[in-house]
Amino acid sequence: MCGIVGYIGREEAAPILLYGLERLEYRGYDSAGIAVYDKGKLNVAKAVGKLKNLCELTDNGAKVSGCIGIGHTRWATHGQPSTDNSHPHLSGSGKIAIVHNGIVENYMKIREMLLSEGFTFKSETDTEVAVQLIEYYYKGNLLEAVSKAVDKIEGSYAFGVISSDHPDELIAVRKESPLIVAYGETGNFIASDITAVLKYTRNVAYLEDGDIAVVKKDGVKFYNSYLKEIQREKAYIDWDVEDAQREGYQHFMLKEIYEQPKVVKNTLSAHIKDGRIDLSDTLLTPEYCREIKRISIIGCGSAYHVGVVGKYLLEKYTRIPTEAVLASEFRYTDPIIDNHTLVIVISQSGETADTRAALREAKSLGARTLAIVNVVGSSIAKEADSVIYTLAGPEIAVATTKAYSAQLAVMYLITTALSSTRGLISAAEYDEVLAEMLRIPGKIETVLSDREQLQHLASMYFNNSSIFFIGRNLDYAISLEGSLKLKEISYIHSEAYAGGELKHGTISLIEPETLVVAVATCEKLFDKIISNVKEVKAREANVLCITQNKSFNAASAVTDNVFTIPNTHEMLTPSLAAIPLQLFAYYVALDRGCDIDKPRNLAKSVTVE
Ligand code: AGP
Repeated sequence: MCGIVGYIGREEAAPILLYGLERLEYRGYDSAGIAVYDKGKLNVAKAVGKLKNLCELTDNGAKVSGCIGIGHTRWATHGQPSTDNSHPHLSGSGKIAIVHNGIVENYMKIREMLLSEGFTFKSETDTEVAVQLIEYYYKGNLLEAVSKAVDKIEGSYAFGVISSDHPDELIAVRKESPLIVAYGETGNFIASDITAVLKYTRNVAYLEDGDIAVVKKDGVKFYNSYLKEIQREKAYIDWDVEDAQREGYQHFMLKEIYEQPKVVKNTLSAHIKDGRIDLSDTLLTPEYCREIKRISIIGCGSAYHVGVVGKYLLEKYTRIPTEAVLASEFRYTDPIIDNHTLVIVISQSGETADTRAALREAKSLGARTLAIVNVVGSSIAKEADSVIYTLAGPEIAVATTKAYSAQLAVMYLITTALSSTRGLISAAEYDEVLAEMLRIPGKIETVLSDREQLQHLASMYFNNSSIFFIGRNLDYAISLEGSLKLKEISYIHSEAYAGGELKHGTISLIEPETLVVAVATCEKLFDKIISNVKEVKAREANVLCITQNKSFNAASAVTDNVFTIPNTHEMLTPSLAAIPLQLFAYYVALDRGCDIDKPRNLAKSVTVE
């Protein structure tokens, strides 16, 4: 997620902006820039890579004079990391500059309209479209032009806007992407979060969705989307910087668990237009979709677990033979790959050595390759024939949650699009699945609202020495992820087993009080997994069942604890079943006093084999 900072006051703006961007580095970024007004014009400095490159370029701000400016750290979503794509972006006249955090979902439509009006563009970004739209409406009143432009923009955004025609005002706009105004002694600020300005002030006001703020050096006015003046309460922040970076959550992992509704919504909406899935910017053209004879899904850890979900879904809905393979195994199995094989590689970081090596092996064997990656411009994204980005933003916690959920969302899109192209899903079911997909973010919110139940369950089992997860089909894939989450942050031994496999040996480990988490969301296999529950109950295990609301009574009759998820389409249950397992692992680790964001022995990206 990008970082925004702005200042207007009596001091030189550039050093203040660079300091603020430094405080926002934790949010992850791949380029940075500032724009400052001085003597009738806007001076812009931008640099790819770490912030120090921008500091060196501007001699720590000394080379960019002026007392009003905006700054930005960019986490690329549209367009590779480059100076052209980094913010601030200038309008065609050079008189308006903008920084942006979020996604302009309808930027292509607006861009086409502006092109037809003679506008031109230097970058591939949705943000440049926004500043050009402001210029399109600008007739001398900046506030009015900004208001008209955002009225046309769909998506999530926090904008900071300055103009050389209006050097006494900085305009801030918020819709879904956080943005604050801060009141300092020498001037006033805007920022994505308080960490950027804590050094100067703890007095802030939060913009609400739809708010526009006109920030001057001696005061701030707030307007609603109809330009009616409104009031916004000042707040005093007593957080330290660390708290502020986690936006008040105790750990980044919890913050990222709670970002999942927005992340899944952003990832889905990037590829759903006018009620249809649109993967036209990938190799999954209808012609190619009809040619695919086999699919291999390759990844490590949680990415591999998404691959297991993908295997079940793709075989069920597309009838294409599909395997999920551990990247570290793939290369040494003499894989059966040819030019009719689609290889999907999944990686949050896009830098995992095993996955990258498997990708190269697959390409050398003639496969077409599609990457599902979170980091724009990463090695795997660049080396694959085609890439679908998960719009999860930077994931700070070592244990993945929001990127995993975004990867699941992409897998649903691919499955449904492929199934439709191959004529294996009716138009009615296509519409039904798509409509339910768009309800998943709200249903994740519902699951997240039940966190107290998971806190209580964690308090019952955090001293267990071993915890088992069982499930069948998709629920087995979820069990794999639930077990890994628990192991990697709580250090409790855990195993995930296909429910029907337990009795072939491992059930000998089940003792009185052993906790078995039974994932039972697959309605068609519910009775089967309940028979496995009865097997472990016969050995006096404790059973926690994760199931859909509709199966609550049946599950309650045979298990010790039941956590229900909202009913949903059978394809989509993984997105909801994973959430309680993430929270359960989190609260168990919390009760055990573990270092949740940075577990022992682990790295966020394993760039060695
Ligand atoms: C997941 O919580 C782990 N941190 C780990 O298994 C991770 O999924 C795996 O290392 C793959 O990483 P990648 O997605 O960046 O390739």
